[in-house]
Amino acid sequence: MDRFLIRGGQRLHGTLNTSGSKNAALPALAACLLTADPVTLEGIPNVRDINTMERLLAHTGATVKREGHNLTVAAHELSKPEAPYDVVKTMRASSLVLGPLVARAGVARVSMPGGCAIGARPINLHVTALESLGATTHQDHGYIEARAKDGLRGQLVTFDKITVTGTEDLMMAATLAHGETIIENAAREPEVEDVAQLLTKMGAKITGAGTSTIRVQGVKRLHGATHRIIPDRIEAGTFLIAAAITAGEVRVTGCQPLHLGALIAKLRHAGVTVTEENADTLLVSSNGPLRSTDITTEEHPGFPTDLQAQFMALMTQAAGISFVKENIFENRFMHAPELARMGANIRIDGRQAIVAGATPLSGAQVMATDLRASASLVLAALVAKGETLIDRVYHIDRGYERIEEKLQGAGADITRVA
Ligand code: EPZ
Repeated sequence: MDRFLIRGGQRLHGTLNTSGSKNAALPALAACLLTADPVTLEGIPNVRDINTMERLLAHTGATVKREGHNLTVAAHELSKPEAPYDVVKTMRASSLVLGPLVARAGVARVSMPGGCAIGARPINLHVTALESLGATTHQDHGYIEARAKDGLRGQLVTFDKITVTGTEDLMMAATLAHGETIIENAAREPEVEDVAQLLTKMGAKITGAGTSTIRVQGVKRLHGATHRIIPDRIEAGTFLIAAAITAGEVRVTGCQPLHLGALIAKLRHAGVTVTEENADTLLVSSNGPLRSTDITTEEHPGFPTDLQAQFMALMTQAAGISFVKENIFENRFMHAPELARMGANIRIDGRQAIVAGATPLSGAQVMATDLRASASLVLAALVAKGETLIDRVYHIDRGYERIEEKLQGAGADITRVA
């Protein structure tokens, strides 16, 4: 099982380039099931979760061809419209095939996602939304089976809670429903907008993606398309924080500054200099003491929950008390005890973490528990005195493409060891 060996104290400098967004690529790949024509997706990151989705699409009967960062999917016929347990247990985003399979094949059998490190993360909202479009569902043996033999019918659907993949799942299903679907209380994440762009290129009729109300006019069928997905705002945000925590100066290229407004505002409040050099490059530098800064995670355009762990690592180096409130998931502070082993002073009080900084960190043997928690441990290790050994880095490989090579290129002393 791979581990990262990091020697802290190097200030990052130079350039960190952003890969394509994992959380845009996953729904985009599921969208390919909606047509028999080949769909080519460009800028797909080579990370474990994408490999898992490739295997899942092949399992359903689609052909998947990867050429570098481009993937072409052709779902000529869906011989097995299902997402088996051994795939879903490694990646909950497999539930994204539920809507496309029901809409295209009239049936879908998807394993219920098991537990997840950061919270229960049920998919009840996905199921209820599809039932609103006329699907009948049945749960047994750990699977959810959804059927719509006469096709789906457009409907007004109001989500009880804002759900990113729930919005994407329903939007994809609605593209082939009879009539209009209106989605209220929709997620506004950039990844939702990006999937809508792809679907529109495939012939779907969608307005309002990126706002709380999305309208979809169902069509008979969709056709092939080519689409470059958006950059990964969470990877770019992680790089901005890496530059700040090491008091370095870095150009983060290939990113979309508009997607990072909440983080940039908080970094500036903490005393970090962030400049938009051009449409896809952010220059970030930090050379003075950092100021304690409170964050509360919210749905987009609020502060992203996927950057909470990384920002907490930064606040261990800020003078004063920082309050970190996690509103999206019920158990997303597992990085805190690991950071504490490196010397951080963090107290957890329910959904709030109180970080008292600045505390010098020292290298230690620590364990990654989930994707973004592992990123936070890497950031802490970059500034810790001495050596840090991070175990179970397969978590980080799920969502970051060759992160150790990218950080090495910006001056970090990090190596992957078996
Ligand atoms: C997406 O997960 C992202 N994953 C997550 O990124 C991200 O943390 C999350 O959105 C929030 O922004 C992908 O896009 C593949 P939700 P998703 O449905 O869609 C509850 C990463 O690190 N809920 O918006 O699964 C849920 O438990 C990952 O890249 C229900 O109760 O998240 C949570 O508390 C981690 N029932 C809240 O809603 C449902 O049916 C928001 O979850 C669905 C969700």
